[in-house]
Amino acid sequence: CVSRSSCNSKGSMIVVSNRLPFILKRNEKTGDLERKASAGGLVTAVAPVVIRCHGIWVGWPGIHLEDPNEKIPESNPNDKTPTAGLLSKQIVPIRAEPNLFDSYYNGCCNATFWPLFHSMPDRATFIADHWKAYIKINEEFAEKTVHALHLLKQDKEKNGSPPIVWVHDYHLMLAANWIRQRTEEEDIKCKLAFFLHIPFPPWDIFRLFPWSDEVLQGILGCDMVGFHITDYCLNFIDCCQRKLGCRVDRKNLLVELGGRTICVRPLPIGVPFDRFVHLAQNAKPVLSTNQKVILGVDRLDYTKGLVHRLKAFERLLEKYPEHIEKVMLLQISVPSRTDVKEYQDLKEEMDQLVGRINGRFTTPNWSPIRYIYGCVGQDELAAFYRDAAVALVTPLRDGMNLVAKEFVACQINNPPGVLIVSPFAGAGEMMHEALICNPYELDDAAEVIHRALIMPEDERTVRMNHLRRREQLNDVDSWMKNFLKAMDSLEEEADDIGAT
Ligand code: G6P
Repeated sequence: CVSRSSCNSKGSMIVVSNRLPFILKRNEKTGDLERKASAGGLVTAVAPVVIRCHGIWVGWPGIHLEDPNEKIPESNPNDKTPTAGLLSKQIVPIRAEPNLFDSYYNGCCNATFWPLFHSMPDRATFIADHWKAYIKINEEFAEKTVHALHLLKQDKEKNGSPPIVWVHDYHLMLAANWIRQRTEEEDIKCKLAFFLHIPFPPWDIFRLFPWSDEVLQGILGCDMVGFHITDYCLNFIDCCQRKLGCRVDRKNLLVELGGRTICVRPLPIGVPFDRFVHLAQNAKPVLSTNQKVILGVDRLDYTKGLVHRLKAFERLLEKYPEHIEKVMLLQISVPSRTDVKEYQDLKEEMDQLVGRINGRFTTPNWSPIRYIYGCVGQDELAAFYRDAAVALVTPLRDGMNLVAKEFVACQINNPPGVLIVSPFAGAGEMMHEALICNPYELDDAAEVIHRALIMPEDERTVRMNHLRRREQLNDVDSWMKNFLKAMDSLEEEADDIGAT
């Protein structure tokens, strides 16, 4: 956990996110609900704070709970994950009618906001019924959050500090405004924050969404709004000014609406660096090959540039046949959002492309691509990261991209490997010592991969040392601390709005 003072241990915290920090599964034999841990960085950083502050997590448990009285199970006694200490009374699950939830999650979240916010408007659908479902589910989240605030109030009657309500991501861009209205009506004190884990698009893209004013008003219900990088903050501020006519201060990143000042802050997320180092130190080797491994690890998502990546690798083999039988691309694609057509189509396209490239270049003793479509455990993942010669992190657009950061954390071998990163990921903005590769430009991408493969050891070492130092310093706990610091300084900022 972060230090005591930055834990906001006087006040408390309610985290509101589409998914709870674990998912619930029904035991096929007993029919009982069981928790299944999630290992993401957000959970690692935030769960200890919620536990320590006796806070509450509001979210969707990953299955539809039919019985409204069915209790959330306590964690398994052998559970060693960060959510193990989260008691069931600290969990407020969202129960929604399956069709409505489907229109919200598969429809509005993943078929509208996801492509639009990644600046791929041609892939986005704009369907009024999906938007209505989004509104309803956001209301439900807000309702449950107000309920959670009441629970905290009973628990902490004597405690003066208002709790922080921290709403996460594009699934819940309307919730904060309702939480604000309800808490004002009921005179419940709290500080409201929102963090977007994906890019916030420029005005020209954002304005395509037919109900964009409601989205902005929803987010502006908060006291503080966080994005990964300054560019996304400025995009958001621009949209507030142009769509809602808000007075804004670009220098100090402030927006004014209805007499309130909202602080906008860049808060680049990190990874649990030391945990990955530990995993890498202890993981058994899993790659039995003499070839240099070029590694890709992604959710199977069209924003990740996987088709471009395979084609760039194909171009490498065409242009530099000396790599034939000497290197291989290991691509791990984790199944994701499999109910959405775009994701099903991408799966097909990848299967075909892997087959075509392998068919073209495979020799009796070697195949250029090993393709895993499935989930990989943390230990195995750390071994892949540690033993890869090159990591290819080449999304077409990405809010941050934690794979780039996990890779450098696991690079404990001497000499180390090389990171290649796209400038269109938040990570590409700050990991300056990586090789930068525009995934759209196939010839250049092939050149960059070649350069990584032949890079001298001392250059690799210097680059990786810098990258690792920065990520260790700016790990996920430091992100959490920076968030809490930003919340602490809200009052001072509020008096401060300058010229527009
Ligand atoms: C992105 C989003 C997260 C989301 C994750 C997995 O990283 O920012 O909010 O949880 O993708 O997607 P899923 O749809 O499976 O939750």
